[in-house]
Amino acid sequence: MRSIYTSFQFIVCGTDTDIGKTIISAFFVRGLNSYYWKPIQSGLEDETDSQTVSRLSKISKEKIIPEAYLFNEPVSPHWASEIDNKQVKISSLKLPIINDSLVLETAGGLMVPLTRDYLQIDQIKTWDLPVILVCRSSLGTLNHTLLSIEALKKRNIKILGIVINGKKHLDNPRTLTEFSGLPIIAEFPLLDNLNTKDLDILWKELNIKTKLDSIINHKRL
Ligand SMILES: Nc1ncnc2c1ncn2[C@@H]1O[C@H](COP(=O)(O)OP(=O)(O)OP(=O)(O)O)[C@@H](O)[C@H]1O
Ligand SMILES: [Mg+2]
Repeated sequence: MRSIYTSFQFIVCGTDTDIGKTIISAFFVRGLNSYYWKPIQSGLEDETDSQTVSRLSKISKEKIIPEAYLFNEPVSPHWASEIDNKQVKISSLKLPIINDSLVLETAGGLMVPLTRDYLQIDQIKTWDLPVILVCRSSLGTLNHTLLSIEALKKRNIKILGIVINGKKHLDNPRTLTEFSGLPIIAEFPLLDNLNTKDLDILWKELNIKTKLDSIINHKRL
């Protein structure tokens, strides 16, 4: 039987900053026992995204690929790099060659600039991996999510599906699916105390392994 664990590589992107990309990345990394890469980390005051994923997923340290750039200020990469006087070179963002599952977490929303003349979404296109879009469950998500999907589709970036993060909404999942034609991979609930055990329970409850497998096989990626 074909294993879900063969070459399961995708990019976790979001409709906004602070939308839950890191939590959802940790969820996938844990469930798939995958590698994780956050190419650009802006803001070093709190735990970095790599540290959060490492703590929540408990995967072996060598599966956390070091960031290409670590900037001090929690602002858009193009400005954070200027503040630190360290320009982002596109050549330093090359996808690491990993013969295993990989979750790549982007910075902020899709259209954040990496330099003064280069948007993250254009870098996503050059990575040439499918994406999973994380969005909030609540009011405002229809506009943000449908705009994000339109921008991805315009560039022919493959979208595996959507993860809706937060308190369950009665209508938004249906509306997002109907307008986008994309599957909802998960409705990820708001957790009081985020921990590894809850991620494991949710992984099984939400049947993520089967959903991802069928989406990927169906799309023949
Ligand atoms: N489902 C959830 N339940 C509880 N807390 C959550 C949930 N999703 C996100 N959070 C919290 O919301 C905050 C933002 O989430 P997260 O760091 O995952 O966002 P992000 O999209 O990765 O942000 P960034 O753009 O900075 O990378 C964090 O404090 C996180 O713990
Ligand atoms: Mg993050």
